[in-house]
Amino acid sequence: MSNAEFKPSEQADEQTASQPTTVSGESQEQLKDEWTEYDFEGAPKISVEDLDVYYGEDHAIQSVSMDVPENSVTALIGPSGCGKSTFLRCLNRMNDRINSARVEGSVEIDGEEIYQDGVNLVELRKRVGMVFQAPNPFPKSIRDNIAYGPRKHGDINDGLLDKLLGRADPDKEDEIVERSLRQAALWDEVSDRLDDNALGLSGGQQQRLCIGRCLAVDPEVILMDEPASALDPIATAKIEDLIEELSKDYTVVVVTHNMQQAARISDQTAVFLTGGELVEYGETDQIFENPNSQRVEDYITGKFG
Ligand SMILES: Nc1ncnc2c1ncn2[C@@H]1O[C@H](COP(=O)(O)OP(=O)(O)OP(=O)(O)O)[C@@H](O)[C@H]1O
Ligand SMILES: [Mg+2]
Repeated sequence: MSNAEFKPSEQADEQTASQPTTVSGESQEQLKDEWTEYDFEGAPKISVEDLDVYYGEDHAIQSVSMDVPENSVTALIGPSGCGKSTFLRCLNRMNDRINSARVEGSVEIDGEEIYQDGVNLVELRKRVGMVFQAPNPFPKSIRDNIAYGPRKHGDINDGLLDKLLGRADPDKEDEIVERSLRQAALWDEVSDRLDDNALGLSGGQQQRLCIGRCLAVDPEVILMDEPASALDPIATAKIEDLIEELSKDYTVVVVTHNMQQAARISDQTAVFLTGGELVEYGETDQIFENPNSQRVEDYITGKFG
């Protein structure tokens, strides 16, 4: 009797002890589907199903399925090269711009497939905006940076013909510029120099400007790829506050290498590990305090990666 009770746990211990590890120190455990099944109320804003991405022969994302709830912050974490940026770029079809990239599977936004013929990519990227790691303002005035998208999309009349016909719309432009800069928590710092070159702003200000530029076209989803990794702690804190604020009205998906940042700002966290697998996805507190996967625990506690 006591023998029978003892045996299974002994076996389990042996299994854990002898579990093989990869060169980077990850244990090679069996993945379980339920680790990535995250239940939440309401319809998903973004629904990813069986997504695979290849760069030539390299398989960068492996059969990833996950649903993202509306008006929340979703953090994507995982070691370098595990496919976070690749995955993020799938959500507004930015990978279409990379010749060697091939995407298979489904991504729906509000139940509408974005990987089908006839999708207007300009319109899609207006709905699903993107902010990159290094701030990339245009070498133009602060005003021109913010007004760029609305002018391009025709939300502000700005062409020569508009001007000749008296259709230019300065009030509307002022309104959009102010609203976007306020939302990006930058207005107070730049309201008296809107016509100065944006490259004269600090790095943190430039990043908030880029967020403002993204907001100016009224997106629904904002994708951010390590938006604060080039910034000092004070500028980082401003971006973090801003992300939390934005999630009241927008669906934010953010890649970060900073675990504390993911824990601080996100509602749910998806952990990708080497090979482009989504290993675990769930409420942020659960992922950080009580992950199902040994590999996720090892990664979070800094044992590898
Ligand atoms: N344009 C590309 N062409 C070929 N391979 C690429 C390309 N972009 C990414 N890869 C490969 O795909 C894999 C995933 O890269 P990705 O940039 O998505 O990782 P990541 O998780 O964002 O890494 P990091 O944390 O370093 O930014 C890597 O093996 C990378 O070398
Ligand atoms: Mg990346």
